[in-house]
Amino acid sequence: MRIIAMVNQKGGCGKTTSAINTAAAFAELGQRVLLVDFDPQAHATIGLGCDADALDKTIHDVLTRPGMRLTDVVTRTGVSGLDLAPCNVLLAGTELELIGRAGRELLLARALQTVRDSYDLCVIDCPPSLGTLTLNALVTSTDVIVPVQMHYYALEGLRRLLETVRIIHQRYHPYSVENMGVLLTFVEERTTFSRQIQQQMREVFGGLVFNTVIHRNIRLAEAPSAGESVLTYASQSKGAADYRSLAAEILRTGPMPEGPAAGRARRGMQKQLAAIFDGVWIPRPYGSGRPVGAPNFSSIEST
Ligand SMILES: Nc1ncnc2c1ncn2[C@@H]1O[C@H](COP(=O)(O)OP(=O)(O)OP(=O)(O)O)[C@@H](O)[C@H]1O
Ligand SMILES: [Mg+2]
Repeated sequence: MRIIAMVNQKGGCGKTTSAINTAAAFAELGQRVLLVDFDPQAHATIGLGCDADALDKTIHDVLTRPGMRLTDVVTRTGVSGLDLAPCNVLLAGTELELIGRAGRELLLARALQTVRDSYDLCVIDCPPSLGTLTLNALVTSTDVIVPVQMHYYALEGLRRLLETVRIIHQRYHPYSVENMGVLLTFVEERTTFSRQIQQQMREVFGGLVFNTVIHRNIRLAEAPSAGESVLTYASQSKGAADYRSLAAEILRTGPMPEGPAAGRARRGMQKQLAAIFDGVWIPRPYGSGRPVGAPNFSSIEST
C-alpha cells in the first residue's frame, strides 16, 4: 500500500483540499483508497459529508484505546472506492494522552499495517503543526506531498516550508519517505507575480515540484460545504481537472520498485535532496533574514 501524507505546518495552504480531492481522483481511477483524517479540525471528515461530532469511534480511539482496530472506525464515503478513517476534535488531546508512551510515533504505522491488503493507496491529511500526529504520518509514509500556496506571503511560507522539509529529510527520509513532492496551490497563471514565484520554485526545487499545479478555483472552496469532493460537485471544473491530473502524475511516478534499480533511484533522490538541504539551502530561523545563498526574491517582492 502506498501511503501519501499531505504535510506543511503552514495553515491554509491546501492540505485538506488536496487530500480529499487527490484521494477521490485515485478512487475515480479505480484504486482502492483510504483517507485518514489526522487533523483535529476534522475538515476532511466534514468535507466528505460526515458529521464529526456525531461519531462515537474515530481514529483517536485507534491511537489511544488498546484493542480498537482501524477497521472498527473506517467508514464508506459517497465516493465509490474511497473509505474514510474519520476524526473529531478529541484527536487534539492525543499529544498529551500519549506523553511518555514508548513507540508513540509508530501507532499509525501499526494501524495501517492491518489494512495494507485492503487498499492500494492511503492519503493522510495532517494538521498544520509538526507534533506527534504529523510525526506518526511521516514515519509511516512512502510519499510526502508539501502543498505550498502561491500568494503574496508565499516567500515567508517558503522559509517555513524549507524548515519543514529539512526536518523531514534529516529525521525520516533515510528510513521511510521515498518520494517527496512540492505541490504549488492557489496558482493564478494570469498574474505575473504568481508566474514569477512558480518559476523560482521550479529553479530551486527542480524535479521535486509536481508538473501539475492547482489553480485557484472557487469550486474547490465550495465543494466541502456540499460534503463532496470537487470531482462530483463540479466534475468539469478546473479544480477537478487539476486534481485528476495530480493523481495521474503521482501514479505515473512510483512507488519505487524493489531491487537494484530502486536502490539507484533512491540514491538519486537522496543526492538531489542532499544538494538542496546540505548545500546553501539550509534556512535560517524565521525572521533572521534571507536564507544563505537563496535566490534574490527582492525583485518579486517589489513587483
Ligand atoms: N485551489 C484553491 N482554490 C480556491 N480555494 C481553495 C483552493 N485550495 C483550498 N482552498 C480553500 O482555502 C482554504 C484552505 O484550504 P485547506 O483547508 O485545504 O488548507 P489546509 O492546508 O488544509 O488548512 P489547515 O492548515 O487549516 O488544515 C479552504 O477554505 C479551501 O476551501
Ligand atoms: Mg487542513
